[in-house]
Amino acid sequence: MENQRYSTTAIIIHWIMAIMIIAMIIMGVYMGDLPKGSDERTWFFMLHKSMGLTLALLVIIRFIWRFWSPPPALPSIVSGAHQKLVKGTHHLLYLMMFIQPVTGYISSSFSGYKTKFWGVPLPHWGWKNPDLNKLFSLIHEISAICLTILIILHIAGVIYHIQRKETELFKRMWF
Ligand code: HEM
Ligand code: HEM
Repeated sequence: MENQRYSTTAIIIHWIMAIMIIAMIIMGVYMGDLPKGSDERTWFFMLHKSMGLTLALLVIIRFIWRFWSPPPALPSIVSGAHQKLVKGTHHLLYLMMFIQPVTGYISSSFSGYKTKFWGVPLPHWGWKNPDLNKLFSLIHEISAICLTILIILHIAGVIYHIQRKETELFKRMWF
């Protein structure tokens, strides 16, 4: 069917997560340059961690929802080889949306500070280990770069179809 759409739940989660993830990437880059020990840095780190863990929960809910309510088949404007690219990008986006908060959480667990989720301290299973903290910070940074590249590719794909007047694709994910 040409005009099949994503479910309203999938659309709402997509847009909430899209806004939150873009904000998280900007915040992550910004907060890293703030002076160590400053109140502003602490505030942003706490917000980043709580928002990131919320995103981890959302991606799990979203993934489960996807089995419950599978995405509609791609419209015919997306040709054979192109379909693989679109589906591949979507699968990689899911993978990175999961890896990103997990590496952030592991890195934080080796920082020596307790990770709080909107003010509630989480069980402190990690310990202070600057090497492991650095390693997972690096993985968190690299995965953020991969996620950003995928998002750019994803948005470029949507814009490509819109500027060819093929708006069906966008409408499937719009309210
Ligand atoms: C989808 C979720 C997330 C996104 C998109 C994201 C993105 C980023 C980005 C872009 C940076 C800057 C990297 C750099 O240039 O060094 C960063 C840093 C950081 N993030 Fe995240 N993050 C996410 C989740 C989390 C979570 C869940 C935690 C911890 C519970 C976390 C903890 C940190 C910390 C401590 C830093 C600063 C130091 C470091 O590089 O480790 N992040 N994040
Ligand atoms: C952080 C940013 C974003 C992420 C992580 C993201 C992620 C995703 C994922 C994983 C899907 C596949 C959904 C599924 O099949 O279950 C999807 C679909 C879609 N996204 Fe995004 N998205 C983001 C931003 C955007 C933006 C800014 C636009 C608009 C320009 C957009 C437009 C769409 C459209 C139109 C679809 C449906 C494609 C189709 O019909 O198959 N997304 N997105």
